[in-house]
Formats: sequence, structure tokens, C-alpha cells
Amino acid sequence: MVEFTLPANSKIGKGKTWPKADGATNVKRFNIYRWNGDDGKNPQVDTYEVDMDQCGPMVLDALIKIKNEIDQTLTFRRSCREGICGSCAMNIDGTNTLACTKFIDEVKGEVNVYPLPHMSVVKDLVPDVNTVYAQLSAIEPWMKTQSPPPPDKERLQSPEDRRKLDGLYECILCFCCSTSCPSYWWNGERYLGPAVLLQAYRWIVDSRDEYTGDRLDALEDPFRLYRCHTIMNCSKTCPKGLNPARAIAEIKKLMIQRQF
Ligand code: SF4
Ligand code: SF4
Ligand code: FES
Repeated sequence: MVEFTLPANSKIGKGKTWPKADGATNVKRFNIYRWNGDDGKNPQVDTYEVDMDQCGPMVLDALIKIKNEIDQTLTFRRSCREGICGSCAMNIDGTNTLACTKFIDEVKGEVNVYPLPHMSVVKDLVPDVNTVYAQLSAIEPWMKTQSPPPPDKERLQSPEDRRKLDGLYECILCFCCSTSCPSYWWNGERYLGPAVLLQAYRWIVDSRDEYTGDRLDALEDPFRLYRCHTIMNCSKTCPKGLNPARAIAEIKKLMIQRQF
């Protein structure tokens, strides 16, 4: 059910300002969304003044510095710090991206940092990804076969077939795309969204998988697939430069081709 107004307890207030360290002259201000479900308060935006002469170049460097040196209660996810794990996805300067690959210098003025939009928040910058992972699980993102494997060998693939996975296998499941998609905002429980559909296509197009028809059957649904209206936010925002909208269009093409 679409809601057009925010519940009163989700309105964001002005939070605390954490002043720069003594002697810091090269300071950048980070305005960061804070919310803790345990204290019953509304969300707020805290401002942290960070000494850029003592900080690495990425937004994630600043978040780690804030947590280590200024405010240990700031909560966010991160692991690899090099654009591989997808866990530091958040909204920075109005765009969904990875904190570890976003240069602070790319943001003019103050840096606004929010969790990925249109997901429930667990705490501060940590979104609840349970629904989207359940959707990923539903498309069965693994190779499914019926025929026995060749003895003592992998299931082989021609270089040409392998190339069909380029632009798909690189997805790190950060969900920047799905959380930028208006269709996913409005119908996130029924529409699978660009990240999961790109994964679905990755297995549909894999020459070794033997369940292509079943996979297409599972997507043949007005909501799961056809809620994509080719708005293209997903491809614009993907921090890995992938094109989930194209993958969705390819699935739609296969749906039509198999009718003839
Ligand atoms: S192209 Fe489709 S999936 Fe991508 S943002 Fe638009 S509606 Fe969403
Ligand atoms: S397609 Fe891009 S934005 Fe979407 S989940 Fe994969 S890496 Fe992230
Ligand atoms: S920390 Fe892994 S992608 Fe940013």
C-alpha cells in the first residue's frame, strides 16, 4: 500500500555538531543521518567536522575516522574497502554509491550521507536487506542442471558463451540500483527490482544452466518483471558501471521470443 505522508516519528531533526579537533585548518563537514530504534527518538542529522589533513581520500575513510576518533556510536557496514563486497552502499551527496570508492573531493561543500533510500533502517546508515535477499534467494542464483556432469571435468563453456556473462558477473549486490528505482520504491515487495533481475538474467543466459524455461516462467508476472518501466535510474547509479536496465530488457525480449 503506497503511503504519501511520512509517519510523525520518521521526520528528521537537527542533531548534534561535533566540532573540529584543536588546530585543524583543513576541515570538511559531514552531515550524517542518525537513527537508533532503541531510544524511541526521531532520526536526526549530526554534523562532524573532520580534519582532512589527517584523513584518507574516500568517504569511507572519513566515516571510519569519525567512528574511531569522534563518535563510536556511528554505525555503518563495510568490509573490503575496495568496491568488492557491496556492504558500504549508502546515499552520498544525493546519489546511491559505495562509500569506499567515492572520493570526498568529488563532493563540493558539505557531504550529506544517508542510508540507501526506501529501505527500513536498522540503525544509522545500515539498511534492512532481509527482503531483498529473500528476493535474491527466490530466483535461485546458482547453476541448475539435469544432465550428469562430464566425468572428471567441469562443465565447459565456449569463450563466446562466457562473454555473455560480462557485465553481469561483476555485480556485487550492493543494491544501489534497486534502491534508486521508483518502481521498486512503490512495489518493493512484489517487483524484484534491477539488482535481483540482473542476477536472474545472469543465470538465464549462462549456457551451462539447464533450467532457462523454468527461470523465465518464474518471472512471467505483471509485478516480478514487468514493473520495470525503463526509467534507467538503476543503470545511472550503479557504482560498478553495470546496466541492469539492459539485463531486464533482455529478459523481456526472451519472454517475447519464446512465444514464437
Ligand atoms: S529501468 Fe527499470 S529497474 Fe531500472 S530504474 Fe527504471 S524501472 Fe527501475
Ligand atoms: S547492478 Fe550495480 S548497483 Fe545493482 S547491485 Fe549490482 S553492482 Fe550494485
Ligand atoms: S567496503 Fe566493500 S564495497 Fe565498500
